[in-house]
Amino acid sequence: MYIDPQWRILTVGDGDLSFSASLLKYHQPQQLTATVYDQLAELVQKYGDQHYRELCNEQCSVLTGFDVTRTDSWGKLTKNSFDLVIFQFPLLPGFNSREEFEQKCGGFGLNALNRALLRTFLLNSVEHFLDPDGAGLCYITSKDVKPYREWSIETSLIQNTKLHYYGSMPFDIERFPGYRIRNVDRDKHVKDTKGITYVWGPKAENLLGDRLSKAKYLNKGYCALCRTGPFASDRDKQEHEQARKHQQMLDYERQWQQYLSSDLSF
Ligand SMILES: C[S@@+](CC[C@H](N)C(=O)[O-])C[C@H]1O[C@@H](n2cnc3c(N)ncnc32)[C@H](O)[C@@H]1O
Repeated sequence: MYIDPQWRILTVGDGDLSFSASLLKYHQPQQLTATVYDQLAELVQKYGDQHYRELCNEQCSVLTGFDVTRTDSWGKLTKNSFDLVIFQFPLLPGFNSREEFEQKCGGFGLNALNRALLRTFLLNSVEHFLDPDGAGLCYITSKDVKPYREWSIETSLIQNTKLHYYGSMPFDIERFPGYRIRNVDRDKHVKDTKGITYVWGPKAENLLGDRLSKAKYLNKGYCALCRTGPFASDRDKQEHEQARKHQQMLDYERQWQQYLSSDLSF
């Protein structure tokens, strides 16, 4: 993950604030505002207050109870004042019961709902968080394993918007000492499987140049949905398209298109 020390950075959905604390200590951005979805009491009960205090001691602004989808939870945030907004390993918070899920899901599955969270993050970042005269970058770090890889992060999130997808770079956790990737709801940390940081922004030009690359499977002759290919022949391709895995991905795509044309869509 490339970080320019000149940047003013907003972190979204930090778990225990260990990412923001490490970012501040080892990359020293010009300015950092860290945000957590949980309220302060919940954060402290789940993970303790070590990183919260570290950040406060460094005069870093920390906002708790910050839901990136809800303007009314953003409190004292100074709008349109950041160069970069980062969401590390996003995932919807768990639901307490089947009933709660059915009440809140609007008829959509978890795949579409997670994509919706990421789309809203990107659109709100551009409209409310990024400085139009700044670097103009949004980072999402995720994993290339199920269920995350089934969200089609590179191709699906910015459909029918003016945003641009610039490419991706490896996320090297070694460059963030002390960072522990957290589960949504528990005081556990997630296995450090390889992370990839995907990058978007409102400007046509890719400011990060060849620090970013685009995956081969986005090219013609591959299946971007299943991240596979190239196909040796038409027959090879047809066989792939009939396989259960591909059909499942098509099903997720259909749901996503339904979501995008629904009233719930941003
Ligand atoms: C798998 S955890 C990763 C936590 C942390 N980013 C890390 O890397 O350790 C997913 C995080 O997304 C946050 N999240 C989910 N929905 C959110 C929302 N609407 N606004 C802000 N954060 C959200 C959760 O609270 C949770 O902390």
